[in-house]
Order: sequence, then structure tokens, then C-alpha cells
Amino acid sequence: MIPAEIIEEIRNKADIVKVVSEYVKIKKRGKNYLGSCPFHSEKDPSFTVSPDKQIFHCFGCQEGGNVFAFLMKIENIGFAEAVAELGTRLGIAVPQVSGSGASKTLRDKLYQIAELAAKFFEDNLKGPAGNTARTYLQHRAIEFKTVKQFRLGLAPEGWDNLFKYLVSRGADPKLIEKCGLVLAREGKNGYYDRFRNRLIFPICDPRGRVVAFGGRGLGNEEPKYLNSPDTPIYHKGSTLFGLDLSRDAIKRAGSAIMVEGNFDLVTPFQAGFTNIVASMGTALTDQQCKLLSRYCDTVILAFDADSAGGLAAERSTELFRSHGLKVKVAQLSGGKDPDEIINKAGKDAFGKMISDSLPYLEFRVRRALSRHDLKEIESRSRALKEIAKVLAAEKDEFTVREYAKLAAQALGTDPDTVQAEVKRLGQYAGAKGFKSLSRVTAKPNSKVVEAEKNLIALIARNKEGLALFQQYLTLDDFSATEARTIIELLQTAKLGQSQEPAHFLLENLPDEAARKYLSALLVRENLSQTEQFEVIFADCVKVLKDEKKRQRVADLKAEIKTAEKSQDAARASELLSLLQTEIS
Ligand code: UTP
Ligand code: MN
Repeated sequence: MIPAEIIEEIRNKADIVKVVSEYVKIKKRGKNYLGSCPFHSEKDPSFTVSPDKQIFHCFGCQEGGNVFAFLMKIENIGFAEAVAELGTRLGIAVPQVSGSGASKTLRDKLYQIAELAAKFFEDNLKGPAGNTARTYLQHRAIEFKTVKQFRLGLAPEGWDNLFKYLVSRGADPKLIEKCGLVLAREGKNGYYDRFRNRLIFPICDPRGRVVAFGGRGLGNEEPKYLNSPDTPIYHKGSTLFGLDLSRDAIKRAGSAIMVEGNFDLVTPFQAGFTNIVASMGTALTDQQCKLLSRYCDTVILAFDADSAGGLAAERSTELFRSHGLKVKVAQLSGGKDPDEIINKAGKDAFGKMISDSLPYLEFRVRRALSRHDLKEIESRSRALKEIAKVLAAEKDEFTVREYAKLAAQALGTDPDTVQAEVKRLGQYAGAKGFKSLSRVTAKPNSKVVEAEKNLIALIARNKEGLALFQQYLTLDDFSATEARTIIELLQTAKLGQSQEPAHFLLENLPDEAARKYLSALLVRENLSQTEQFEVIFADCVKVLKDEKKRQRVADLKAEIKTAEKSQDAARASELLSLLQTEIS
């Protein structure tokens, strides 16, 4: 256990706005900050951070809590890890949670092995074994500074150099295998290295920890690139190569250039295009979009100039847009990919292709036109339908009209014809969309629900609130499960002198629903600052007490009815007198 004073010191020194900003773009709106939620995909921002209360809450997915909860969720770590991490960032010493390395988590051990391996590969590239690889890099115009920055390395020839090295440094063979670095020998004991005689690109998480590797063959061997498999610390589908080095530039620029290949990232980066990430040749995933949308609002696709690249651009466009990202598509020429273009045509040419990149609608319209033989009437008709479908999804009328003009010109027809087709498809799509729209009925905004929320907010924010609660209320006055969970915890807790109930609750509530309930109302409420604190408290207590009374009266009336039906006169009169005392 980390001492409570240290947790408190870290919480007090930490600024949730600063911590969140490292992962999410947030903008000041009134007293709070607002941004797109990193925990679910959304178009309209509902992720709220309150600097006053040092709490976050998303009104879309209901995720919420304090700075520790945020780090736990976004880094996928436990409470102690989050405290330690924040402590490190703030320069506050946190005693080792478990004393020795023996009880480190599996993930920690894998990070350590991956880091050792990265160092081993780096040293090999620098040493005598690295001659050929260094020449290879020279041919590809990669400078020494870039090698260092990306920590490029070499997996030497031979079957088990890395394995032996890691074992000699105390790594457990089973864990080396778990890290994806070695494979078990078939039928025999022992392991052999996965990466042999390859140029190594370490793949890092956004915080810069090495999690995996990509290895390029130095000749024409197959496969050209060999990559780490998924491991407990590496999920290909939620990783973007280069993001650890480019995230600040991406935030500054508000946009990210997205490329397919390893060299397509490294070469432009070296040339000064530092707001860049790579998908490493795989189909884009939801998680990758979400990850990127934390740092910018525009993606510029610079996929290979071949038809596969065009198709990949078309497909990923929709995915990006569904995550609220604006998409532009660079039209590459003068080489097959960004790496080649920079080396052949130069960085200025590449820069121009990036700044001239097409808005996604124009890209889609132009692609549809280029796919069809516009000399034939039937083909033009198919092109028209394709374009109309693309435009029908666009809401802005002016934009649609302008593209209709552009398409009409290419198709040798008039804009009205294109517009009419867009409208026809739009009505169809609209009708379909309407039916599938599930209407969410708002919960009845009962006075009781609100009163309970207000009371919990007052109790959680304020020691006097807690005292008033103990004086006037009991657990049974509350009906919402979440509220009851909160009250129960408060009743059993021993709060320290300086501890604010809110943060104690957020860190110790046993279930997520209750934490979300609390963070929602803490972010929203501004009752505890008001002078009328006690008046509001009393009002809410009255609402709950009245409700309790109303329930008891209703229960008694029902019971009286039953008693009368069964002709139990004694019972009925007994209940009646109870009812009278209740009402008076
Ligand atoms: P490409 O086949 O376009 O290669 O694959 P490239 O990037 O131009 O490679 P160089 O310039 O010859 O070195 C694009 C990306 O797809 C992944 C790699 O990340 C590669 O950079 N890839 C490709 C693999 O993972 N495995 C492969 O066998 C091939
Ligand atoms: Mn290439």
C-alpha cells in the first residue's frame, strides 16, 4: 500500500487539465474544459474536465473520475501504477509498491525485456556486425541522427544471439517467448530468435516504451518485413508506428500525415515532416482512429500511389470520419511511396503534395470519375450514381452543389441532373436512417432523483455536508443504488482530517456505476460554493422525506384495502390509526 499522505500529495499537486491534455485535445468552455472522449467514439464533444474539482466526466459514455482514474483507464494500469506514474511525472518519490522486482507485473517484465532487446539491436548496428546494415541505411539516405532518434538496430546473423544475450541478463526464456522475440524449437528443447539478419525498427507506445519490433530484410528475402506478433504489451491494431516521436508535432499542427510503410515514416520525418504516423501496411482499425483523434482533428492520407493505396485511402476515409476526423488525401506522384518521392523528387515536392491534398469529397468524386470510361454513356451513368451516393452523405448544401458542378462538367451533363440524383439517393438514405434511429426516452426527471443527486454532491464536496447528513438522513432515505453505494462507503470510511470526501469516494468506490454517477454530478454541480448551502440541503432532505411519507401512506392505504376485503376489522382500524398519525 502506498501511504495515504503520498497519494494525497500527488493528487493535490497534479493538475488534471495538464494530465488529460497529454492525451486529449481539450478546449476551455466556461469554467470547464471540453473535448472528444478518448474512451468511446463520438462526433460532438461531451468529455468534460473540471479544473476546480479536478474531475473528469464524459456525458456520452458516463466514464468519469479523478486524475488517477483517468490514467488508469487511458494507460490501462492499476491504481498503484497510476499513483506511481503521476508521482514520477511530478517528481514526488513513491515508495516501491511491492519492494522487489520479484512481484513486478508481467507487463513490467515484458517492457524490460523489449527494452533490453532494443539496446542489443542498437549496439549490434553500431558494432562490426553492423557494416552491411549501415551501408544499406546510407543507400537509403538515413542519417546517423535519425538512426539514433528512431533507435534503429540490427538483428545479427545466427540462430540465438539475442536469446543468449537476454538469458545472460537474467530474462526468463518463457517471458522472452511471450515478448515475441523467440520461437520454441519444434520437437526439441530451446528457442531460436525470431529476428535474424534484419534491420530493426523498434515500435513504441505513445509514451515511448518499446513494445515490439519490425525487421526489414537486408536483401530480397521474404517476407520483406517481419513483425512482432501481438503480445500482452503490443496490440498491432491499436498501435501507430512513430506516434511516440510525432505526437507533439501532431498536436501543434492539428493534423497528422498518415503513411503505410516504415521508411515512409522515417524518411519524411528526417526531412522535417514530423507530424506523421504509419499504419505499417495493415488495414486501419477503430482503435487506431480513436488513438489519433486524441491528438488532432485532421488526417492527411499519403498512401502509396498504386491502386491498393487508393483503395486503402477510400476505405479508411469512412472510418476516420466516423471518429470525427476530417480527412484529406494527398495525390502522390514522382515515386511509388513517400520515401521514394522524397529521395527522388525532393522534400519540397512532397511538401507541396501534402499542402495540395484533396478534401475527401473531392478525392472520392475524382476517383469515381477515374474508374469509369467517360466516353461511354453507360459508364458515365454508373459514374454519376457512384458520385451521387458519395454526395448524398454530405449535409452541407453548398458543398454538394459545388461538387455537383465539378462532376457535371466531367460527365458532360448539367449540375441539376447530378443534384437530382443526389436528392433521390438522399431521400432514400434518409428514410432508411430514420427507421433505424432508436429514440432514447429520457428518464422521468423526478424531483427525488434530483434531490438525491444534489445531496450526494453536497455530501461529497463538503465536510459540513457529511455532518448534516449524519444528523438528518439515513441510508434508507435514498433509493438510487449508486447513491446508496456512496452512502454506505461514507458510513464505514474513516476520512482523514484533510481528505475531501469526493476524491476518497472516487478512489474507493467498489463499483463503476457508482463512480460514474458521482463524477457526472460533481462535474455539473456548483451547489457547494453557494451561500445557501444549508437551505438547499434542507430542501432536498424535505423532498426525500416527503417521498418516503408518500410511499408509506400509499402502502398503508393498500394494506387497509386488503384488510377490508378480508373483513379484518381489527387490522383495518389499527392501520387506519397508523395512517392518521402519518398524515397529521
Ligand atoms: P510495402 O510493400 O509498400 O513496402 O509495404 P515499403 O514500405 O515500400 O518497404 P521498403 O521501402 O521497400 O523498405 C508497406 C508496409 O507494410 C508492412 C511494412 O510496414 C511496410 O513498410 N509490410 C510489408 C509488412 O509488415 N510485411 C511485409 O512483408 C511487407
Ligand atoms: Mn518503400
